[in-house]
Amino acid sequence: MTIPIRKIMVSSALPYANGSIHMGHLVEYLQSDIWARFQKQRGHQCTYVCAADAHGTPIMIKARQQGVSPEELVTRVAAEQHEDLKAFGVAFDNFHTTDSEECRQIVYRIYHELKKAGYIYTKVIEQAYDEQENMFLPDRFVRGTCPRCKSEDQYGDACESCGATYSPNDLIEPISVLSETRPVWKDSEHYFFRLSKFADRLRGWMESAQLHPHITSKLEEWFTAGLQDWDISRDAPYFGFKIPDTDDKYFYVWLDAPIGYLASFMNLCARREDLDFDAYWNADSANEVYHFIGKDIVYFHTLFWPAVLDGAGFRTPTSVFAHGFLTVNGKKMSKSRGTFINARTYLDNLNPSHLRYYYAAKLGAGMDDIDLNLDDFIARVNSDLIGKLVNIASRCAGFISKRFDSNLSATLENETLFAEFSAESETIADHYEKREYSKAMRIVMASADKANRYIESKKPWLMIKDESRAEEVQAVCTQGLNLFRTLMIYLTPVLPAMASDVQKLFREDPWNWAQASTPLLGRRINRYEPLLTRVEASQVERMVEQSKDTVEIADDADESNTISIDDFMKIDLRVARITHAQAVDGADKLLQLTLDLGDETRSVFAGIKAAYKAEDLVGRHVVAVANLAPRKMRFGVSEGMVLASGPGGSDIFLLSVDDGATPGMRVK
Ligand code: MSP
Ligand code: ZN
Repeated sequence: MTIPIRKIMVSSALPYANGSIHMGHLVEYLQSDIWARFQKQRGHQCTYVCAADAHGTPIMIKARQQGVSPEELVTRVAAEQHEDLKAFGVAFDNFHTTDSEECRQIVYRIYHELKKAGYIYTKVIEQAYDEQENMFLPDRFVRGTCPRCKSEDQYGDACESCGATYSPNDLIEPISVLSETRPVWKDSEHYFFRLSKFADRLRGWMESAQLHPHITSKLEEWFTAGLQDWDISRDAPYFGFKIPDTDDKYFYVWLDAPIGYLASFMNLCARREDLDFDAYWNADSANEVYHFIGKDIVYFHTLFWPAVLDGAGFRTPTSVFAHGFLTVNGKKMSKSRGTFINARTYLDNLNPSHLRYYYAAKLGAGMDDIDLNLDDFIARVNSDLIGKLVNIASRCAGFISKRFDSNLSATLENETLFAEFSAESETIADHYEKREYSKAMRIVMASADKANRYIESKKPWLMIKDESRAEEVQAVCTQGLNLFRTLMIYLTPVLPAMASDVQKLFREDPWNWAQASTPLLGRRINRYEPLLTRVEASQVERMVEQSKDTVEIADDADESNTISIDDFMKIDLRVARITHAQAVDGADKLLQLTLDLGDETRSVFAGIKAAYKAEDLVGRHVVAVANLAPRKMRFGVSEGMVLASGPGGSDIFLLSVDDGATPGMRVK
């Protein structure tokens, strides 16, 4: 069957350039990478772009806190994110940045078109202003008590406790998270995009885009509530593009973020003869454009974005695909449970192929959340990838290399069985196309079972004992290897690294989809090398343990740097007397301290060896956190923490307590 060649541009949402890639992000990048790889393998022209989402207040603030320019922060973080994604096999054709000339150019072009068409107007609005920091505050930078349920310490836009949405000046006792002072309300002129004019055209787009019902029902809710015009400006200081003809107004990060897709594509077009920007983005383009996103950013991609494109005379996306959120062991990722796992921490312990397969086995086309259950992950990967898939190859390849000089037979032992495998080709392709990866994986694994049953029924390991049946052994193993090869062709979008190893085994070039239906016969293959190893529970445990230690930088841009008085009151600070201190074998930074807390004794590991000699510590009174959950470390269990200050290394200073204080005394 020949398939007409499609021209497709695919994007993943642009990661904010202020944190590390984590397991949640990977749902998105792996889902879209699998789809782009699939399209390429089908022979289509598919271009997969992404970029760093560079602008906005949180990035500006984080850079300020780190004492670097926002540009420096973005460059460093984006490079690290791109490295991590590449290590997971995510193969963007281009990874650019929204803080680029291309992006600025397209933002200005779109803004001018929208303005010319009458879709932009200005209006004075009242906004929270921090008089100490001299800046307007985004909603998330104001916290206070929820006006509805009176929960303390809630964001300025919504209450996490009761779900109410409101604006910051509805909060009781609002406070700026930057200066911890009470904000004032000040007038400022803002620029608005007339989203309200686009209701009809958006409805038309929604139908042509054949959105998943999960998205359509969200959109229906928003249409019913009525489309509100969109505030696209922010006041200085801001990290972003300045609005033309103003001194102190900037485009809101969410205006230029999706334009980053075009910017990344444009940047790539400059290097690629076969790609033409206009052919993809002019209003009359017949090429396809798809955006993969998470469910939290559907509003931006299915209302603002198509309206902005349409209003500025560009084409709209062919469709938008939204996935759900990741939970780990059934719960929101959490640092204290060690389930807020960064991509890097995973890579330090486990093989990316395992996660690629596990996510594929879980992913469907809708916005349901997906759960990474760590026990299930171990069981599933070992059973499917090792027990079923790799098993086929390892049972057959050895005989071919050892007994038949690495030669495959010239014919298949069971053509009907092979035909059954190749007959799945279009069904599996259709599942990939519709992002029903879990269905595709189910077919592949059911076929793998079938291949194993075939080998089981033939028992080449017994046959080989009978010299007269050698040829039959070769035919059975050739059959088994061909079934394996066909399945690997189907799995290439999910397991590209393993596919490439299997291509080496068969001495083949990268596969196209159609090759799944043609067996490989009468030729020499390479010696079999083990393809994939099992996941050990200990690897997963270590990863979780290490995740407890990572200082999380991913999401705190959205969070305040303050804790409530309630949080503070939870900490049980006590005077403790160090009764014993000693170095720890194999740890160059740690001392093991025995603390007398009045009514009990605790063992605590402290990273203060460079600053203190063990013998000088005995008898000292320090401040200890008495109610810290015990933590298992490599050297033993640490049952608390002693407070110290300083930058680290030899500059650490234990907080001292007057000698009159007695062990066990509360420190508040
Ligand atoms: N910068 C915006 C996107 C701009 S697109 C023009 C953004 N960045 S993000 O870093 O917060 O998220 C990037 C993508 O990862 C988003 O699609 C988001 O939905 C997805 N995910 C982030 N955390 C996630 C989970 N815990 N689970 C699944 N997807 C998650 O949003
Ligand atoms: Zn509330």
